[in-house]
Amino acid sequence: MKKCVVPGTFDPITQGHEDIILRASKLFDEVVVLILTNAQKKFLFPLSDRTRFVQKTVESFPNVRVESFEGLLNEYLTEHDIRYVVRGVRNASDFEYEMLYFTANLCLNPEIEMLFLPTITSLHHVSSTLTRELLHYHADVSGFLPSAVCEDVSSRYKELTEK
Ligand code: COA
Repeated sequence: MKKCVVPGTFDPITQGHEDIILRASKLFDEVVVLILTNAQKKFLFPLSDRTRFVQKTVESFPNVRVESFEGLLNEYLTEHDIRYVVRGVRNASDFEYEMLYFTANLCLNPEIEMLFLPTITSLHHVSSTLTRELLHYHADVSGFLPSAVCEDVSSRYKELTEK
């Protein structure tokens, strides 16, 4: 059975992520969407929210499940005997970042293989950072968020920021 991991921080999950996960689910028998931490990022949504948003987004994808992990991607892959990682790439700067990320991971585990899927043109502008900015200004985020979580993300944002 061919398995892959789609890793990310998903703060929050966007239509860009959703599209990549859906496409990965057509290439592999089983997809694990893995919610990781990134030491360079401060998170708006706590892990429990990010996990719920991802779960709701993928609940109709039959061969996709969601997990979270506190350690390195490489450790998760070794522990679960998974070799393939899928990442979305929007543009040249994403590609440069992904090449460094791939090379660093390869140093840790020479068995890792990464597949880069090009983001579809209509989603090139979508990012978690822009989504958070739009939420801040109470703007319409329906073009950025998966439809299954649009209301949940917006109302959770209000709860978190109006405390
Ligand atoms: N697919 C994926 N991301 C897309 C996208 C698409 N089609 N279109 C846009 N994006 C955006 C995301 O919205 C996000 O935007 P942001 O930077 O504004 O937040 C960005 O591209 C990528 O975010 P995400 O996919 O959530 O990943 P990340 O870069 O935050 O996550 C980890 C990186 C978690 C995978 C990485 O840090 C990691 O592996 N961490 C664990 C520790 C580790 O092993 N480190 C590596 C050591 S070698």
